[in-house]
Amino acid sequence: MTTDAAGFAAAEPQAVLSPLTRAAIFLVAVVNPGSGNAGTVRGLCGDLAGLVRAVGFRDSDSMLTCVAGFGPAAWDQLAGPPRPAGLHPFQEIQAGPRRAVATPGDLLFHIRAQRMDLCFELATQIMARLRGAVTVVDEAHGFRYFDARDLIGFVDGTENPTGAAAARAATIGAEDPAFAGGSYVIVQKYLHDLEAWNALPVAEQEGIIGRTKLDDIELDDSVKPSYAHNALTTIVSGGEEVKILRYNMPFGSVGDGEYGTYFIGYARSSATTELMLRNMFIGSPEGNYDRLLDISRAVTGGLFFVPSVRLLESLASGVPGAGPNAAAAGQPPESASPSSSGSLNIGSLRGASQDG
Ligand code: HEM
Repeated sequence: MTTDAAGFAAAEPQAVLSPLTRAAIFLVAVVNPGSGNAGTVRGLCGDLAGLVRAVGFRDSDSMLTCVAGFGPAAWDQLAGPPRPAGLHPFQEIQAGPRRAVATPGDLLFHIRAQRMDLCFELATQIMARLRGAVTVVDEAHGFRYFDARDLIGFVDGTENPTGAAAARAATIGAEDPAFAGGSYVIVQKYLHDLEAWNALPVAEQEGIIGRTKLDDIELDDSVKPSYAHNALTTIVSGGEEVKILRYNMPFGSVGDGEYGTYFIGYARSSATTELMLRNMFIGSPEGNYDRLLDISRAVTGGLFFVPSVRLLESLASGVPGAGPNAAAAGQPPESASPSSSGSLNIGSLRGASQDG
């Protein structure tokens, strides 16, 4: 772990940057009304790392990780003000028949490993801790499809940033120091009309994605349509590309005819992913929308804040001053003064009346 100028541990991110795996479980839950439920969630925040260690150590080669994210209402409830600058309810978009829906979600667990059994075991252990306190409103089990392809047959993830560029793309820095080491994550579950997609000539599909299908090479600008998916999701600011970090996974059910892509994009700023979504749904310029949406329907949508490891753990203590300022300074929450300015005032949430 790196240290800051004062020698304190810097805000270590959760396992956002770990590589794409063969399996993933995406769990979205809401906190049930009623006293004590927020306290149960706080308890898990302190124990999550231990649960990941306990399950993951049984096969450490399988790289089990879990990232926990919080929707705006849950963050307010668990941590109190201030909110991270880019955390707000997911902004729904409606453009003609295309709709980026907003659906309920207080907690997101993004569980990844090379083996689904490890993901499943961890999800089970998490839910055993939360049983009764939360309701799972969406659960998707994602799998690797051949060479990291979506069910539409294209390789997904190629242009993700790597190394230091990935950390820069996905991690909040000095622009919001109290939440440094955190990330924003947007998730959307898409269902594809595969029959309609497969009826399109491959050359047309390649124009829609902006890459060749078999060998995954980017189309030359001279032939790439302006509505190509990778054209509309390329964001340039101040002459530089602003990237996000995606870990999309296929999921589905052949019996139900359900063929989907679970979109998950981590970003340093939620505005970047939101702009990509506007470009896809409304178009850039307006009307020049993403043709992928002619055969894909978003059935969920949520924005979550992913706190740094220390800030996540500090939510468990429920003591005043356990918030981001104490965490950013690398101090144990207990040492923070109850009256320290800028605290999240978590102590005020301890009363049962505020838990619901
Ligand atoms: C139906 C759901 C989606 C599917 C099937 C899909 C699939 C793909 C594929 C196949 C690529 C090209 C390979 C790659 O570079 O990864 C790609 C690129 C990309 N997608 Fe998506 N995607 C979906 C939704 C989204 C959404 C909702 C966003 C953002 C809000 C997004 C952002 C991006 C970005 C930033 C790139 C890389 C562009 C570049 O730099 O070349 N995608 N996607």
